[in-house]
Amino acid sequence: MGASSARRHDRRAMTFSLSRVIRPLYLWAYDRLYHELAWGYDLVSWFVSLGQWDSWRRAALRFVRGERVLEVGFGTGELLPLLAVKAERAMGLEASAAMHRITARKLARRHVKVIRVQGIAQYLPFTDESIDSIVCTFPARFILDPAAHREFARVLRPGGRLIVVDVQLNSANPILRLFFQIVFPPVKEARARYQSASAAAALISTVHCLGDGPVQTVVTVSEKAA
Ligand SMILES: C[S@@+](CC[C@H](N)C(=O)[O-])C[C@H]1O[C@@H](n2cnc3c(N)ncnc32)[C@H](O)[C@@H]1O
Repeated sequence: MGASSARRHDRRAMTFSLSRVIRPLYLWAYDRLYHELAWGYDLVSWFVSLGQWDSWRRAALRFVRGERVLEVGFGTGELLPLLAVKAERAMGLEASAAMHRITARKLARRHVKVIRVQGIAQYLPFTDESIDSIVCTFPARFILDPAAHREFARVLRPGGRLIVVDVQLNSANPILRLFFQIVFPPVKEARARYQSASAAAALISTVHCLGDGPVQTVVTVSEKAA
């Protein structure tokens, strides 16, 4: 092995062990943030994105089609009022009761009416072929679960779509890379696992990378055949 490939190998090994240490901590901390610390979610997401979280999230809007739109894992509900403007019937499903309470207050203050359901992506309480678009921004682990994709495919109308928003780092800057690793620790083979879960549910995915700055918004649109 040459010196430079040995260095690359060392860097990869360091990155891998760093993510093995950080990932369980990250999952624990984020679970807290979805439940007992949900009141701090908007502030934390604003801080870790340097104020960009909301604009990243809004990247979903231009891909939304149809009258019946469901947001899964809506968190503090920031996107729901915008979906309510875009769609005739906007609905939201979220697992956390704390997130529901925050969203309920927010929607009431803004006089927005959206149907909210407490539940999980792996068991959607909606009838077959009843939804035109499903939106998931910065989804939790459910997005890699084949059971969730089976549910998405079941409730989507023929020609309907699942829209998933995430971000990726497009920079070699070591400080940015470390910061990004801490905030968004890489999930092993996430892209391959997503593609496999989605393809198994017969959804056809197209990936759109938006922006040319150091952080790109990645919108994955997975469509059900018409
Ligand atoms: C990272 S937050 C994203 C929130 C929001 N979409 C945003 O862009 O800020 C993930 C959300 O998914 C919810 N969640 C976690 N597991 C879920 C599941 N199996 N089904 C539905 N929602 C889930 C969490 O409670 C949390 O509110």
